[in-house]
Amino acid sequence: MKAWWKEAVVYQVYPRSFCDSNGDGIGDIPGITSKLDYLKELGIDVIWLSPVYASPNVDGGYDISDYRAIAPEFGTMDDFDRLLGEARARGIKIIMDLVVNHTSDQHEWFVQSKSGRDHPKRDWYIWRDGFEGQEPNRMTSVFSGPAWTLDPFTGQYFLHLFAREQPDLNWENPEVRGAIFETMRWWLDKGVDGFRMDVINFISKPPEALCADGGPGGECVNGPRVCAYLEEMHNEVLSRYDIMTVGETHGITPDDAVKYAGYESGALSMVFQFEHVNTDAGPYGKWTTMKYSRPELKRILSQWQTELDGRAWGSLFWGNHDQPRAVSRFGDTSDAEAWEKSAKMLATCLMMMKGTPYLYQGDELGMTNLDIRALDEVRDVETLNAYRDLVEEKHIYTRGEMMACIRKAGRDNARSPMQWSGGPNAGFTSGTPWIQINGNYRDINAEAQRQDSSSIFRYYQKLIQLRKQFPVMVYGRYEPLLPDDDRVAAFRRVEGDDVLLVVCNFTGEALPDMELTNLLPAQAGLLIGNYSEPAESLRPYEARVYAGKSAASGAVLYDGR
Ligand code: GLC
Ligand code: CA
Repeated sequence: MKAWWKEAVVYQVYPRSFCDSNGDGIGDIPGITSKLDYLKELGIDVIWLSPVYASPNVDGGYDISDYRAIAPEFGTMDDFDRLLGEARARGIKIIMDLVVNHTSDQHEWFVQSKSGRDHPKRDWYIWRDGFEGQEPNRMTSVFSGPAWTLDPFTGQYFLHLFAREQPDLNWENPEVRGAIFETMRWWLDKGVDGFRMDVINFISKPPEALCADGGPGGECVNGPRVCAYLEEMHNEVLSRYDIMTVGETHGITPDDAVKYAGYESGALSMVFQFEHVNTDAGPYGKWTTMKYSRPELKRILSQWQTELDGRAWGSLFWGNHDQPRAVSRFGDTSDAEAWEKSAKMLATCLMMMKGTPYLYQGDELGMTNLDIRALDEVRDVETLNAYRDLVEEKHIYTRGEMMACIRKAGRDNARSPMQWSGGPNAGFTSGTPWIQINGNYRDINAEAQRQDSSSIFRYYQKLIQLRKQFPVMVYGRYEPLLPDDDRVAAFRRVEGDDVLLVVCNFTGEALPDMELTNLLPAQAGLLIGNYSEPAESLRPYEARVYAGKSAASGAVLYDGR
């Protein structure tokens, strides 16, 4: 079935780092509004807005203290309404970040919940007695250290799967679900076009994981009632609006994806899976300097494409505000040529797979990881906690080793300000930016790339246009090719007689032995590629897409013009 959100290209805005309108060094909503024409020019259809709600900002706004208020540093509700209206006037939709596994500890619900053991809101969060004067069990938080923190006033521990300032809501309580659903309706009635749902497969906790028996605790993802809660959400809210929803779901299998977002009965439009961005994880998770595994990446991407086929719609991304920069991670930034070619190759591969593509701000310019030199330059709570844990408490890494991990994997890499121009502060702010600006902004910026017809920006723009022109790019079946060649991602997209052949060289080597001719569809024309001169075999980081027909009927899908 066709759907607007299958045809859409989504662009994620991380508001704090997008554009500062008033010189306080913090990106804000009027700043986003001022860049809508830029986004329109790029051609995207939907903005995913990372949180702009009231928040003490312990975790970049993913700790919300009021779901119906805008953080003053981002602007006012009027500013938000203006953004929504201006976006709509340009045909751009906006989806909000729904962060409802937890709230901020400053949220009124939590303030009341911790005010006394018999407060009616006590049960809105997850409280347990300690075990022999210690945490109820040994579960650890995603942001290092115990997942339980003692509230000295009431003498019980509360659960927080992330920072201690992010207590987990108790979804078992129907009042909690009711309050969340009401908030969702409030935003939808205002006119937003859907939600990206933060860690949504964490909302149901397996009862064993919460046992106050001093035991290991255990995993809190994909708990027994995730589907039931999502179905209820679907009935109470989602099904009543023409919206898109995408669940952030770490640690899922394709079967889980089908449960949450299957065509038949899934409550959500689609989910994000993370397997393909985890091939460079080590014994301490993301904190390693290991490079990603090319064979694994290729296998995982292809497997998800194949396994979701006919069962669920997929989502496509290389990065987001939690991941390092795509070109630094999967591409090559060793010189200007490799940087440009590999960024365009990654763009091609992403946009040509089946699913809804999500671009993260700055990826359309090939923005790269930050050169973080010292711990006091780090702003991210996850990184700071991991440093304390792995260096200061457990002595697993030396300072130098951990700084190398941070430069490679830390979340600040993707959170440095958008590089709008080669002018002061990259055109992001007239004040002092809240986080350092990448030193390469004079070479990598939007102003320069908009003036250059062969830039990464122009290449993304072209890919987005092609997606609108060639339905096979959206709806075509995915057919893997060359499964045993680790150097390239190669596949076909097929819809009726229309065929696209996609070949992406993930290596910095020329591949003289790569025979493409026998893979070409009939009447093939080169639809897009990242080299301007033709050549027989693939060059370093070369990407090519040919459009053609499944049989030599004389019909042409693309005639080269
Ligand atoms: C999600 C967000 C991340 C946040 C975490 C806790 O993974 O993407 O930024 O820190 O949830 O809300
Ligand atoms: Ca500002």
